[in-house]
Amino acid sequence: MATGHPTRGTTGTNRLRRVDRWLAEQPVLRGRRSPLVVDLGFGASGATTFELHERLARRIPGVRVHGVEIDPERVATARAQLERLGPRVREAVSFGRGGFETPTPGDEQPLVIRALNVLRQYDEPEVPAAWRLMLDRLAPGGLLVEGTCSEIGRVASWIGLGADGPETFTISLHLGALEAPSIAAERLPKALIHRNVPGERVHELLRALDDAWTREAALAPFGPRQRFEAACRRLRDAGWPLPLEPRRWRLGELTLPWSAVAPR
Ligand SMILES: C[S@@+](CC[C@H](N)C(=O)[O-])C[C@H]1O[C@@H](n2cnc3c(N)ncnc32)[C@H](O)[C@@H]1O
Repeated sequence: MATGHPTRGTTGTNRLRRVDRWLAEQPVLRGRRSPLVVDLGFGASGATTFELHERLARRIPGVRVHGVEIDPERVATARAQLERLGPRVREAVSFGRGGFETPTPGDEQPLVIRALNVLRQYDEPEVPAAWRLMLDRLAPGGLLVEGTCSEIGRVASWIGLGADGPETFTISLHLGALEAPSIAAERLPKALIHRNVPGERVHELLRALDDAWTREAALAPFGPRQRFEAACRRLRDAGWPLPLEPRRWRLGELTLPWSAVAPR
């Protein structure tokens, strides 16, 4: 039986580009040959599953992507789309019905599961059990990425989880016309979205990020990339445990250990 319930199928071409870029750089995928990656809850069309495959295939030879959806009509739609694509994609991408228990062809354990914009339509208390089911399906050393983004993917955040639970938290923002980094508050993963209140770490983080962004306003004429990088440096200097990643900061992206934002 598929665990979970069908929710709105909203999806869109290119909306998951930020998380896919991050995924493609994760050590777990580096040097692997033909790993299996699952796209859980792909939505009303297979678009973001095909994109996931295309992006990963540039770096990871033979990568295979299996889309899992709880709504059988969406599986049929994606399979029909797949039939119209070329043999290279047809050999590497597949779709099947299922829920958080994450069924795969031949019951193979996936190395990575991407579940984006799925848990946001569940209740917060349902999150740990859903995580557990997906984590229990991962191959040893595997990675679950679970998060949320805006309709066109300009605001995104996600949690990276290993077998023992959450490990990292990432915010990724389109910097053009960014007014305040706390825009991320609207697109936090379900485990954090109700925690953006005084006394919680994620609230402190978003306030500190806004404050750092404001204090770096003098850099605005040099462009938002330099300004965001400086804001991240400022956060780090203030004791936030950001790894030194200026290249990613300039893309509007920062990662922290989960312990820096974990609910109290
Ligand atoms: C909002 S869409 C997200 C689509 C795509 N991942 C994206 O971000 O553009 C969420 C999809 O997750 C599916 N879904 C919800 N719960 C699920 C579950 N437990 N297992 C598999 N799919 C699920 C819904 O049916 C829906 O199509």
